[in-house]
Amino acid sequence: MFSLAADLWRVPGHQGQTLYMPAYVDALDMGGVKIVSVFPSNIDRGIPSVQATMVLVDGKTGEVCSIMDGTYLTQLRTGAAQGAATDILAREDSRVGALFGAGLQAWSQLEAMLTVRRLATVYVFDREKKRATELADRAQHELAGYGARIVADSSVDKVLPLADVITTVTTSKVPVFDGRLVKEGAHINGVGSYTPDMQELDEYLVKRVDRVFVDSRDAALAEAGDLIISMKHGTIGSDKIDGELGEVISGNMPGRRSKKEITLFKTVGIAVEDVVVATAAYRRAMTAGLGVRLQ
Ligand SMILES: NC(=O)c1ccc[n+]([C@@H]2O[C@H](COP(=O)([O-])OP(=O)(O)OC[C@H]3O[C@@H](n4cnc5c(N)ncnc54)[C@H](O)[C@@H]3O)[C@@H](O)[C@H]2O)c1
Repeated sequence: MFSLAADLWRVPGHQGQTLYMPAYVDALDMGGVKIVSVFPSNIDRGIPSVQATMVLVDGKTGEVCSIMDGTYLTQLRTGAAQGAATDILAREDSRVGALFGAGLQAWSQLEAMLTVRRLATVYVFDREKKRATELADRAQHELAGYGARIVADSSVDKVLPLADVITTVTTSKVPVFDGRLVKEGAHINGVGSYTPDMQELDEYLVKRVDRVFVDSRDAALAEAGDLIISMKHGTIGSDKIDGELGEVISGNMPGRRSKKEITLFKTVGIAVEDVVVATAAYRRAMTAGLGVRLQ
């Protein structure tokens, strides 16, 4: 199994960039590449700022066997990765969630948090208050089955010190909250920053956290602005990264070691996640007779 580093093409005239993300999973006999464009100002045009197409390549024949939309796929696999991290690293007694960012990825991030912990309240923040309100109102109705109160909020200083699970999924280039507000024992998921110059978590917090896990060490060192900026300034060294989430899942490394530790999962997204989820979707679609056959 391998995930190659994403190849990134910048489009400065439109503040956009296109990523090519290849991977191969031998256990599935499947390879693939996701082509994902990130154009942050698209949200003002009413179209997604992140757009993606997934191409699957049959591992036995090398033939392209499926082309599918990668946008929902990205939401699914990014939510799943965060859910796995929260499940493994957050305290069992977590009751309060905080979600920063109410854009395209936010829904699956919220659902992942609710799936793995019995949260009583989730506070949703966005610099566009309207977006946070719309997401919270819709979630309160459609995700009512989880039994959580989901509310849009703008009083970060008051509410954040209560949060047991904090997820950031914004396009921000500056920290989205003051790391001094995070309480002992909290678990943080940094999902949004995926280039060396993007940052959601401040340097104080990145230094303060007790345990840091990433989806891929190589990818994090190349792409995760939240960590790279602190490394450049000498606030932390690369040894601040304790390990990959997979090492904790496979039992090769301890995750949270005490109720007091602050844990951080920093994800930039890796291509293997796309191939695994796309293969499951492709195989189910073939069994169900869905899709269009291309000549
Ligand atoms: N780690 C991964 O695997 C992964 C996967 C997909 C997307 N992402 C990244 O996640 C981020 C969010 O994706 P999206 O599709 O939801 O983007 P989006 O543009 O749809 O939404 C981003 C939201 O963040 C809000 N925001 C920006 N700066 C903020 C700030 N300082 N404080 C509060 N809110 C702020 C915006 O108002 C917007 O509502 C992007 O950077 C994207 O590239 C990461």
